[in-house]
Amino acid sequence: MKKPQPLVELVATGRYLPDNVVTNDDLAERLDTSDEWIRTRTGIAERRIAPDGMHASDMGARAARKAMAKAGIEPGEVDIVILSTATPDRWLPSTACDVQALLGCKNAVAFDIMAACTGFLYAMSMGEGYLAAGRGEIALIISTEKMSSIVDWEDRTTAVLFGDGAGAAVLKPSNGSGRGILSSHLRSDGSLAELLYRPGGGSVDPVSQSMLDEGRHLMRMQGREIFKNAVRSMAEACNLALKHAGMTADDVDLLVPHQANIRIIEATAKYAGIPMDRVFVNVHRYGNMSSATVPVALDEAQEQGLIGPGSNVLTVAFGAGLTWGAMTLRM
Ligand code: ACO
Repeated sequence: MKKPQPLVELVATGRYLPDNVVTNDDLAERLDTSDEWIRTRTGIAERRIAPDGMHASDMGARAARKAMAKAGIEPGEVDIVILSTATPDRWLPSTACDVQALLGCKNAVAFDIMAACTGFLYAMSMGEGYLAAGRGEIALIISTEKMSSIVDWEDRTTAVLFGDGAGAAVLKPSNGSGRGILSSHLRSDGSLAELLYRPGGGSVDPVSQSMLDEGRHLMRMQGREIFKNAVRSMAEACNLALKHAGMTADDVDLLVPHQANIRIIEATAKYAGIPMDRVFVNVHRYGNMSSATVPVALDEAQEQGLIGPGSNVLTVAFGAGLTWGAMTLRM
């Protein structure tokens, strides 16, 4: 298969993690759980929790400033801000508009996309399309999640899994160097929405006293079903993204998967044919930060020297919707 020429390049990434570390033992003080159970079933040892008063927009803006500084661009140069979050600051307007105001990106169009944990890959793909169509020169992609604001802290089956944080990326049209987004494969299946969702708070079940009393505004998940679908979908997405890029698993320098659970990561890597020494893992430190996991991982992997200019990276994610997808990049 002819190898695709990338049209859009990832020029820089950034991340922000709140300082406050919550360990499994901290959670075990208020929930019927243990460090041993959480580590064995998920690989998670600790997560960051944003303080009251720090919103998704604040974390997103901090991550974005780092990415923009690395890329050497000023806020006024940004043409489009695409922000993914499952935890918007407010339902109206978009969190992207709040971040745009915080950053001073006054020449940009800004909007949110909601694709849960796959949001970064969706946003990257939308940004790629916008730039490839010649609509602008600089796209700012932000994934920011204050998962602690929608977790049911009395439900041990979900409360132990999630954390807060943000990641960002700057995209520019490719200059013909061969670096950039090589392929992406995105999918969703809305018929499985209720495996992972928040029943209340929207137009189906507007805010009411009974909704709050019964916690219908908080996240609910069928963990086992999610687990099975995640592995199957991510393995398929990896294979298709590699195929569209004219690559095989052997060409991948680093797999950067969504960080939800170490067992999901290991199973996905196995199906994709990539040994664990070429898989980036930080789920033990941050838990599942929904769409922020992939950009945070990309940023850390570069900082640790695991990838650099010319590296082939495969990213893959899965989340509520259901949504899933994979993307290949030459850094
Ligand atoms: N501590 C102690 N015991 C627990 C806990 C806990 N935190 N949570 C559940 N248990 C108990 C259950 O009640 C159950 O007890 P029982 O046998 O007496 O009924 C037992 O542990 C086993 O529960 P299972 O749900 O069968 O455990 P499983 O091995 O499936 O692990 C888990 C649960 C970790 C949630 C797993 O299913 C999983 O990782 N699923 C995917 C979840 C996920 O990653 N979601 C996000 C992905 S999509 C996205 O990122 C938005």
